[in-house]
Amino acid sequence: MKIAMIGAGYVGLVSGACFSDFGHDVVCVDKDQDKIDALLAGRMPIYEPGLEALVATNVEAGRLSFTTDLKTAIADAGAVFIAVGTPSRRGDGHADLSYVHAAAREVGQSLTKDCVVVTKSTVPVGTGDEVERILAEFERPTRVAVVSNPEFLREGAAIGDFKRPDRIVIGSEDEWANDVMREVYRPLFLNASPMLFTSRRSAELIKYAANAFLATKITFINEMADLCERVGADVQDVSRGIGLDNRIGAKFLHAGPGYGGSCFPKDTLALLKTAQDYESPVRIVEAVVQVNDQRKRAMGRKVIHALGGDARGKKIALLGLTFKPNTDDMRDAPSLAIVQALADAGATLTAFDPEGMASAAGMMPDVLMARSAYEAADGADAVVIVTEWDAFRALDLRKLGSAMAGDALVDLRNIYDTNEVERAGLQHVCIGRAGTLVRQP
Ligand SMILES: NC(=O)c1ccc[n+]([C@@H]2O[C@H](COP(=O)([O-])OP(=O)(O)OC[C@H]3O[C@@H](n4cnc5c(N)ncnc54)[C@H](O)[C@@H]3O)[C@@H](O)[C@H]2O)c1
Repeated sequence: MKIAMIGAGYVGLVSGACFSDFGHDVVCVDKDQDKIDALLAGRMPIYEPGLEALVATNVEAGRLSFTTDLKTAIADAGAVFIAVGTPSRRGDGHADLSYVHAAAREVGQSLTKDCVVVTKSTVPVGTGDEVERILAEFERPTRVAVVSNPEFLREGAAIGDFKRPDRIVIGSEDEWANDVMREVYRPLFLNASPMLFTSRRSAELIKYAANAFLATKITFINEMADLCERVGADVQDVSRGIGLDNRIGAKFLHAGPGYGGSCFPKDTLALLKTAQDYESPVRIVEAVVQVNDQRKRAMGRKVIHALGGDARGKKIALLGLTFKPNTDDMRDAPSLAIVQALADAGATLTAFDPEGMASAAGMMPDVLMARSAYEAADGADAVVIVTEWDAFRALDLRKLGSAMAGDALVDLRNIYDTNEVERAGLQHVCIGRAGTLVRQP
């Protein structure tokens, strides 16, 4: 099968590399010349474990190539995937579909043979209808079907997720298109990854419903964590106690600084805008969005409390800036709001992140980037663990403490045991545990 992947970003590049690894012949197209030049030179535009080797193997085998020339890329393709960005639209929070529509128009202009056009981008209900309408503007003797195939990979574990998905969702009412999609995913079908065939609108909604549900689960446990702090309970035990119930499940029940990243914030917002447009509001998701927005800045206040209520002139070191470990993605990372809150309070900030500092530097110009966790902690009144990179799970706490000027270790991911931290002479301020309300001014 010849596949064209439009958009060589996180999803397009990982999907394209994995499809080529299945044996398909894949061309990834991107408008960004620098990105394509980097890929042609063997450099990855993103940090994702295993991606560089996967790309190199398949390029060498002649199954994976990169170009900015969409017309040639789709000339022979039996399936064209649209994997361009769908960020929040400035001003109103709806998904910005301009990239999807532009890609559809370019595909429409260039198609010369029968082809299935697959939307892999996360798009609101009804976008497939619009893509179909755009493609129909171009007269041609060939057969075209539009399919929704939302992507569920997680950054940091993207290749494993793509190759061993919990499910593959295909939204189409066209049997020919469904057969093409079966062929595209045949290697996974053989691995018994469940394929769910449904209507295009259902497939589009499944993606938003899944992300909104996961965001709700995170926000629910975050609010439980706050309650734990007030009532003298431990959120880790509450999480475990509810997560062992199979109807609830243990995943996404880790209390923390609030969800961020390239998907949950924009997708929850887009879902509630769609729901409002259809006069069927999703009030739970509205509450989730509001609670999560406030939480990130509240984490800044938590750090300030740990410093006795005044951060002016204090030095604070942040460990981890990316929205989660194993990625360099800074989109909507909680660290951005935390940095802002601490800077507003007059603190001086240093930070260390294993992979994210290059992209973070432009977004937080006043934060001094260090070369290690210990260098960041040098002279700090408080060290804040913002992202739970493995590199921060086994810090030499005594060494950290002796580099610091103060003694507050604010652990926003609950990765340390309080006894261990206290044995190293530090105060442990964590999430959702009694006694972590800390020193009042
Ligand atoms: N990042 C994730 O973890 C993830 C997971 C599941 C779904 N998604 C969804 O997948 C979509 C893509 O997300 P992403 O994170 O890969 O975005 P991204 O910003 O990393 O990549 C998008 C790419 O598309 C390119 N592009 C835009 N218009 C183009 C055009 N007309 N022709 C060729 N290239 C074009 C851009 O230059 C960019 O490189 C979004 O809808 C997102 O919601 C993302």
